[in-house]
Amino acid sequence: MVQINENYLKLKAGYLFPEIARRVTAFAKEHSEAKIIRLGIGDVTEPLPPAVVKAMHAAVDELASRESFRGYGPEQGYAFLREAVAQHDFAARGVDISPDEIFISDGSKCDTGNILDIFGQDNRIAVTDPVYPVYVDTNVMAGHTGPADDSGRYGGLVYLVANEANGFIPDLPAEPVDLIYLCFPNNPTGTVASREVLQRWVQYARENKSVILFDAAYEAFISDPSIPHSIYEIEGAKEVAIEFRSFSKSIGFTGVRCALTVIPKQLVATASTGEAVSLHQLWSRRHSTKFNGASYVVQQGAAAAYTAEGRSQMQDLIRFYMTNARLLREGLESVGISVFGGVNAPYVWLKTPGKLTSWEFFDLLLNKAHLVGTPGSGFGAAGEGYFRLSAFNSRSNVEEALVRFRQLIG
Ligand code: MLT
Repeated sequence: MVQINENYLKLKAGYLFPEIARRVTAFAKEHSEAKIIRLGIGDVTEPLPPAVVKAMHAAVDELASRESFRGYGPEQGYAFLREAVAQHDFAARGVDISPDEIFISDGSKCDTGNILDIFGQDNRIAVTDPVYPVYVDTNVMAGHTGPADDSGRYGGLVYLVANEANGFIPDLPAEPVDLIYLCFPNNPTGTVASREVLQRWVQYARENKSVILFDAAYEAFISDPSIPHSIYEIEGAKEVAIEFRSFSKSIGFTGVRCALTVIPKQLVATASTGEAVSLHQLWSRRHSTKFNGASYVVQQGAAAAYTAEGRSQMQDLIRFYMTNARLLREGLESVGISVFGGVNAPYVWLKTPGKLTSWEFFDLLLNKAHLVGTPGSGFGAAGEGYFRLSAFNSRSNVEEALVRFRQLIG
């Protein structure tokens, strides 16, 4: 008789975004006339930068001829992309990351889940609350937690609360933890971490021999020059942190798929024998066994984002979405809603009006204004009473959404 991974039975019924999609589809079926505007999942709407498109076309043409055809690529990514990342994302910020410390993949969601393959079963794991649900669910699937309680919190995880009182920057854990998930700019609250905040975490990790899993998927949206884009801008971070980055939002690759994970060579963890083992080596082994590399065409597209033309087009795209974020912030504030984030991040985090729960506000918006957002409680117990709006949409949809907000709440 085949047995299942019983850990899956501990998971809440649906992953947040498919659950929202299910509710919206049911509503749309009943109200076919409703023009629904989706500000829920952070999915991009604008076309790829022309320099990226051109590079992808040229790469397809290469594959169309016997002389320039390519089959399997290097599992860790092509050198042309790894070198461009090392130079523009790190060296340009004074950070020394070598190309072979960069692993190209098909997404940060997969990487933040798959990274658990190289860690043991008995680590104490800290997540923020609210949190990007992938960090929690993948630990549940891997058997690192007990069952969930009534508030949806899983036994065995250490939850670090991010709320208005601490400016959505959680305090250091009160107990020692081994693995710490941090995401800055933060999904869902849109908060950024100052250099001092990151220094505190790096120091904590060094003192406690912890590893920080630093999700920097939204770093391209930082405009404040004092805010670090990478945890490696902090001295000593290379011995304690893995960093995840993504092309999904910066150059519109949510459907194309390309991301990267950085594991510095000096980062080690301990085997049961007490031996220090390189995490870079383990991830490299894992990558070449379970992954065959992101596609050549996609990696050429990503590399084009680092050319002068590509960088300027990427900045235009980011400015476009960040103007949406500003319009959302200002529009919501003008009807008396408390708003957070949305300045150095493409997410606007708001307090639900009238003390509505997150899901009550979701239903109100969907039923009365045909607007979709993401209930804060879907990101964790501390997200109750909050709601997330994504700035990834067309300008006309954002403007129309604000008209409907004003009619509903103003
Ligand atoms: C989100 O809406 O939180 C993101 O789009 C999810 C993701 O990037 O996987």
